[in-house]
Amino acid sequence: MAYSRITGLGYYVPDNVVTNNDLTKWMETSDEWIQERTGIKERRYFEFGKDTNYSMATAASRQALDRAGITADDVDVIVYATITPDYFFPGSAFLMQRELKMDGKPVIDIREQCSGFVYALSIADQFIKSGMYKTALVVGSEIQSSLLNKSTAGRNTAIIFGDGAGAAVVQATSDPAHSILSTHLHADGRYAEELYMKDPGSSRERPFSKELIDEGGFNVFMNGNAVFKHAIVKFGEVIQEALTANGYQSSDVNLLVPHQANIRISDYVRQQMGLSEDQVINNIQRFGNTTAASIPIAMAEAWEKNKFKEGDLVCLAAFGSGFTWASALIRW
Ligand code: COA
Repeated sequence: MAYSRITGLGYYVPDNVVTNNDLTKWMETSDEWIQERTGIKERRYFEFGKDTNYSMATAASRQALDRAGITADDVDVIVYATITPDYFFPGSAFLMQRELKMDGKPVIDIREQCSGFVYALSIADQFIKSGMYKTALVVGSEIQSSLLNKSTAGRNTAIIFGDGAGAAVVQATSDPAHSILSTHLHADGRYAEELYMKDPGSSRERPFSKELIDEGGFNVFMNGNAVFKHAIVKFGEVIQEALTANGYQSSDVNLLVPHQANIRISDYVRQQMGLSEDQVINNIQRFGNTTAASIPIAMAEAWEKNKFKEGDLVCLAAFGSGFTWASALIRW
């Protein structure tokens, strides 16, 4: 029986730091409001002409490959999560595959919003467990800054999101004691319109008309309250599901890596689980919410800072648009 193990982590964030005070140039808001409601102090925005969704993913992947001690030639499949691809189609995985000179190797583009990385990890895990592939490159990458409405009308979403990419190399192992123990995926389309970007929708009569731009369908819409209320429940549920499936309880967890949605959501989950501040990774203060990239960036940073070691029980948990929610339990 094959198991899968994360053998390398990497991340890339653009150099361009945008503080809360910078945002006040474009919209009515304040550093105090943003920090109090979300925990965010600054985020990164891509630099046009320098960063692209796939170039950031490639940089993160190269770092993950180096750290795993392998090259792109050794990778059997790419699973790439993003809601902000470079092109409408084909997906950014193709562009990264070309950059890494992996011609002929399969690529899978998925969306799944803020749960995208955990979904992608689960897909890689199943490929490896089934014996179909031995090495997968799992990526989350987002350029969201160019798609945000940075006027006062868009301030409830524009303050939250940032750009960046993270990647993990996942490889087959025969050792279940150091492997991904389980993954748990959920979705509920009844809430699709609580956090979404409507346009350019293919079912529109004239998807690219000026009227639709004026209507605001090209801006992210979020019912912040509904997202908040569901997130605090679903994070707890899906973490418990992972623990129960493996016969563990909260006190067995060494490190929780939550999707970086909002510091208040992370704090609530941390308190529910009885974990210390040290046991929960939070970098939303510096990077904002980078959607599919947030968990691999947080994991890669935590790894660099020696926040976890071999044998630790690490839990990943996500919630996002869809709604989607997901978890993964890893014995490192
Ligand atoms: N700066 C200043 N004021 C703002 C603002 C901003 N950036 N955004 C909204 N406001 C105002 C609103 O206009 C409203 O004003 P009013 O009372 O005069 O109408 C007031 O602040 C309260 O707005 P509300 O939307 O109720 O705020 P909130 O306390 O719910 O906080 C969020 C808003 C977005 C921070 C909060 O709902 C949240 O964190 N939700 C979860 C979001 C999330 O995690 N998303 C990612 C999911 S993966």
